[in-house]
Amino acid sequence: MLTVLGIETSCDETAAAVVRLDGTGEHRILSNTIYSQIHEHETYGGVVPEIAARSHIQVLDSLTQQAMTEAGIDWHDLSAIAATAGPGLIGGVIVGLMTAKSIAMATNKPLLAINHLEGHALTARLTDDVPFPYLLLLVSGGHTQFLLVKAVGDYERLGTTIDDAIGEAFDKTAKLLGLPYPGGPAVERAAQKGNPSRFKLPRPLLDRPGLDMSFAGLKTAVRTAALKEEPVDEDTVNDLCAAFQAAVADVIGHRTERAFDVFRQRYPQVQPTMVIAGGVAANNAIRQRLQETADQSEARLIAPPHKLCTDNAAMIAWAGIERLRLSRDEDPTALS
Ligand code: KG4
Ligand code: ZN
Repeated sequence: MLTVLGIETSCDETAAAVVRLDGTGEHRILSNTIYSQIHEHETYGGVVPEIAARSHIQVLDSLTQQAMTEAGIDWHDLSAIAATAGPGLIGGVIVGLMTAKSIAMATNKPLLAINHLEGHALTARLTDDVPFPYLLLLVSGGHTQFLLVKAVGDYERLGTTIDDAIGEAFDKTAKLLGLPYPGGPAVERAAQKGNPSRFKLPRPLLDRPGLDMSFAGLKTAVRTAALKEEPVDEDTVNDLCAAFQAAVADVIGHRTERAFDVFRQRYPQVQPTMVIAGGVAANNAIRQRLQETADQSEARLIAPPHKLCTDNAAMIAWAGIERLRLSRDEDPTALS
């Protein structure tokens, strides 16, 4: 049996969770606590690293204690402590990692330094038991990547954004149109009331081979279109949001089609599966477009529950378990 405490503090969520894998291979999230700092950053229209780090310090100890209490276990029941060690905002990463190190020292348990992206990449194996290999589309405020997940620790980046992350483009577009932070949900709400055909926006990079994407030009195109409109009334904002969202969904849809082709070339015998993760995966228009693309390509699309798609500590604990399981399989005397 493996029981791991996970800690995540790399951006604006403070999170602690306990995940257990029992001897029969069954796994369970015993607790999954999270504190979102969103309200502390909203007046600034984005995450302020200094505020984020200070806020993690304030809540992480009590949140960790809460995760242990909700899991109903004692510190000595833990097999290891896993914490995000990067990439992320360094102040927050230091708070999480040093807290995890202290717990590891005090309890004499191993510390597992987890890459945040690996956490996202392996979440689908916690929620849906997805076998390797599979594709991951990570679309958040900081990341926009197609990854080929071949095994624990064996990832290949097939494509990424060459400028803004997709969530960042949503947030910046919202800001320039006077919508609140975080911009993604606000743009989606406005887009539902808008007409996507009134403004013609570009589909950046689609004429190029490969899986890279670009979103900065799209945001600038929205600004240029808005500047030509006077006044920028509510209908215009809704129509611009609808056009922006349709363009993003189109770019992601086309790139996903190509990702399935790349997967088929590599693994002709395996039906492609794509897992989506990150806050932008909550967007219904993007989800719908991805589902259509998957259906056309006879591929499987997996969207873990929203709470596990966005930043959380259960994914960090689970990545720790996957790593421990691997080392135990390689060395049966290790951490049994
Ligand atoms: O994964 P996440 O919660 O945090 C990190 O960035 O790590 O993602 C947050 C991002 C923000 O940029 C937010 O605007 C975007 O996800 N987002 C959305 C939606 N909900 C959140 N973007 C588009 N549509 C949404 N419904
Ligand atoms: Zn993330």
